Amino acid sequence: MGKPKVYITRQLPQKAIDMIKEYYDIVGIWEEYYPPPYEVLLEKVKDIDALVSLLTDKIDKNLIDNAPRLRIIAQYAVGYDNIDVEYATQKGIYVTNTPGVLTEAVADLTWALILSVARRIVEADQFVKGGEWWRTKTGWHPMMMLGMEVNGKTLGILGMGRIGRAVARRAKGFNMRIIYYDKYRLSEDLEKELGAEFVDFETLLKESDILSIHVPLTKETYHLIGENELKKMKKGAILINTARGAVIDTRALIKALEEGWIAGAGLDVFEQEPLPPDSPLTKFKNVVLLPHIGSATTETRTRMGELVAENLIAFLKGETPPTLVNKEVLKIRKPGFD
Ligand code: GLV
Ligand code: GLV
Repeated sequence: MGKPKVYITRQLPQKAIDMIKEYYDIVGIWEEYYPPPYEVLLEKVKDIDALVSLLTDKIDKNLIDNAPRLRIIAQYAVGYDNIDVEYATQKGIYVTNTPGVLTEAVADLTWALILSVARRIVEADQFVKGGEWWRTKTGWHPMMMLGMEVNGKTLGILGMGRIGRAVARRAKGFNMRIIYYDKYRLSEDLEKELGAEFVDFETLLKESDILSIHVPLTKETYHLIGENELKKMKKGAILINTARGAVIDTRALIKALEEGWIAGAGLDVFEQEPLPPDSPLTKFKNVVLLPHIGSATTETRTRMGELVAENLIAFLKGETPPTLVNKEVLKIRKPGFD
């Protein structure tokens, strides 16, 4: 048997391509900046054994049914809400992701958003570059660009997985009270180490000065933050989302910002990506918007690529891939191509 065939839905770091090439026949790489259209992907998967996917690729039942030889989907992302994992499992298809390697990069970006919103960094930058500062003829003013102090405030973390914990670790330097809510409570030791206190969802909403979201998008977390939740938050609170856009009900958030239920928001992810420039979100000065760049550092993207390759290679060797998402699949089919 020749090398198994893999299709890759976007240009990956070269290191990953080189690693994959040694074991797989790369039948194609989508070379455009934008994602392959669904119809193209449907065609591409017909005859492949493995697929490297991105979060912008919709891997649904129909697509899986079009890929009778497909044995593994190696996702280049930690989140995998774009994939019908349940159906893949039924079909004996392995699904892998890239957790761990992007944790610190996402936590850094979360903090960049927290500080940007709290201290009005983007607004202040525009104030200088746009000449407005110059026009005030005032170098320093007691009331210029007053923001919110971060030091000593309460940081609320919704979802205390790897990324949530990395965000909590960074909060220590800011002398914050850290509260969190998650489906799963951390061990007492870990809570102590992080200085984080477990609270119920309601308390998290009511007591956080900064509320940062780190849950995956699932049926349970879809629109978890809606009107009711936003109304419970402090008027002075800042909402941060570097997880998935659809965890927040966007229309409710816009209303909350318009009516001043909360003080500001920092968003790296949206229900619709790319975010249309006429979205009402773009009109708020107290909202910082980023184009889904949580894991976007050269180092992290390289490690994500390597992990994708490691998953593919382990599978080919008949081993359990290091970051397998659907462990139940092990009962349905052994790893490897037969
Ligand atoms: C990015 O959003 C990821 O899930 O890795
Ligand atoms: C992702 O890496 C998480 O578990 O938070």
